[in-house]
Amino acid sequence: MSSVSNPAQVGTVEATIAAGINIALVKYWGKAPGTDNRPAVGSLSLTLDAPGTVTRVAFDPALAADTFRLNEAEADLRPVTRLLDEVRALAGIATRARVESRNTVPTAAGLASSASGFAALGLAAWQAAGLGRAGDPLDRRLVDLVRRGSGSAPRSLLGGFACIDVETAGVHPVTAAPGLEVSLVVALCADGPKSVSSRDGMALCAETSPYYPAWVESHPADLRAAEAAIGAGDFTALGEVMEHSTMKMHACMLASRPPLRYWAAGTLAALEALVPLRRDGRAYTTMDAGPHVKALCRREDEAAVADALRPVARAVLIARPGPAAHATTWDAGAR
Ligand code: PMV
Repeated sequence: MSSVSNPAQVGTVEATIAAGINIALVKYWGKAPGTDNRPAVGSLSLTLDAPGTVTRVAFDPALAADTFRLNEAEADLRPVTRLLDEVRALAGIATRARVESRNTVPTAAGLASSASGFAALGLAAWQAAGLGRAGDPLDRRLVDLVRRGSGSAPRSLLGGFACIDVETAGVHPVTAAPGLEVSLVVALCADGPKSVSSRDGMALCAETSPYYPAWVESHPADLRAAEAAIGAGDFTALGEVMEHSTMKMHACMLASRPPLRYWAAGTLAALEALVPLRRDGRAYTTMDAGPHVKALCRREDEAAVADALRPVARAVLIARPGPAAHATTWDAGAR
């Protein structure tokens, strides 16, 4: 698109995008060498119907500088401007943007708010700048753009199960067998933001954990097993490989120097509460770079899993597979 014909230069153009958070079943932990934020391992996730992020980007010729408000308050502009600068370079425009974001995810609590955040911001900026429209096939440059913000963000561009390939760093959907109807029950197990960002945690782990090479080496087999389980509709195989990938990642973290422990007392309380359901193969658990526990279960078991978690968790929410990042209106909001 030529810079002269780009509408962002002659009037205000805007786009609003909603994106759901995604939870990794086979985990991404570790970065490839270089500056492009490419992963050292692939990953496979489930994008949820809620919570998530709604972001409106308006390129406005009257603005002297970018602005960013998150949940009605001024917020750190730097990562937003970095992404907008890339979009402006691709679109051949110089127009500054007003960015507003509404997050229904507890920000930076290890619930992957950065993934839905960068997916919503990236796609909204992309469309507002005229680089693409709703319904276009996923553009590889958009995938790279949001990945540079957050390694797990490309997965929130897609709905349902999504896989990031370690060789290409591209993302593709994984089609589930028709009978595989799952829910993820999220137990919030502690308050406050996490103490170590995933970026810093990954670097520490790669530098100091003796288990890191084994983590990287054993990872592709988990990814293959999870893809096969989803394709075959094998809930048990999927739950088991998710649990295995999770525990390997946390073992690798714990063996760092100093140790990296994202779990809180409430994390163990939630795991304990699920022991009977796990024994019956009805609930499998995963944790990320934070204290919260997410339990994968069949749709018919979501109420039982939530009931088991409620006495020990700060809050429990039941989520199901959600759509790809998509256009919405600012007033529609996110649940
Ligand atoms: O997207 P990041 O850089 O916040 O990393 C996410 C890492 C984990 O949540 C721990 C695992 C994953 O694959 O989402």
